[in-house]
Amino acid sequence: MTLSIQPEEQRSVTVRAPAKINLHLGVGRPTSDGFHPLDTVFQAVGLYDDVRASDGDGSVTVETASYLPLGVLPDHADNIVSHAARLLAATAAEGTELPPADLLVEKRIPVAGGMAGGSADAAATLVALDRLWDLDTSDEVLLDLGGRLGSDVPFSLLGGTAHGTGRGELLQALPDGHTWWWVVVPSPEGLSTPSVYRRFDEMFPDAPESPASSHAVLSALSSRVPDRLAAALHNDLEAPALDLRPELGDLIARGEADGALRGMVSGSGPTVVFLCENGDHARALADGLQDDDLPVVLVANGPVSGAHVL
Ligand code: C5P
Repeated sequence: MTLSIQPEEQRSVTVRAPAKINLHLGVGRPTSDGFHPLDTVFQAVGLYDDVRASDGDGSVTVETASYLPLGVLPDHADNIVSHAARLLAATAAEGTELPPADLLVEKRIPVAGGMAGGSADAAATLVALDRLWDLDTSDEVLLDLGGRLGSDVPFSLLGGTAHGTGRGELLQALPDGHTWWWVVVPSPEGLSTPSVYRRFDEMFPDAPESPASSHAVLSALSSRVPDRLAAALHNDLEAPALDLRPELGDLIARGEADGALRGMVSGSGPTVVFLCENGDHARALADGLQDDDLPVVLVANGPVSGAHVL
């Protein structure tokens, strides 16, 4: 009899997590912890990062889509996916064997773009490693770990359309049966979120304690009328982002002159998004905007699912 020893199959789990747009971003005066109270409405849109976790030796590799400028990503130890892996591992019962895992991040969401790309990577890592390690972590614990990694990570897990308060991590899912169409224009160079919040503090030292309410966006969403949502879109970080990058104002004006229902900075920027009537309108606007100065113009719709296994 001949015994053949089969090599152990390398297991892997791939998780896809979406970018977000803030349809409303009301920002209040910072509290004693330095964070700003938010009243925000997130929408997950169909632009994704994937994280593949596989049996390995603990390496982290980042592959960036060819259309994205090569942003400087933190090295291994500082990368948010490594933080996510350590945080999840720390929740495992004592004595549980957690084999080292390799993480491959495939980035398509603009880096430092105001679309929660880093948060998507953290959310995808939590879900991928939870599956690879068979931890069966509850949604509640995953959301809590997400909130510790970054204010937008819980939303990357949840997806859809949601109302966010606190730092943006306290979420309530919203019914949103319409498909909204966006043109997304990344910038060649990212903006750091803390620097935009700092500029906000300098420009608005008397910002109200309570952030502006999102009720206009909530009622526009339930109307399902793109013109109504266009009129209700609101971003308190737009003024500081435009102050740091005045050329974004020209881009918004150009998209609106070309027929966008409304253009705005996404979150803390510098990505600019344009709301369109429907898919045909978005594709036509994107075609018109794309030129030598704007080589990358994307079309995405929302809402879409949060982090999910492929
Ligand atoms: O939570 P996250 O890591 O995404 O936040 C990045 C930075 O953005 C924080 O360190 C803080 O400077 C700023 N921030 C804030 N108020 C919020 C969210 C973020 O001031 N609600």
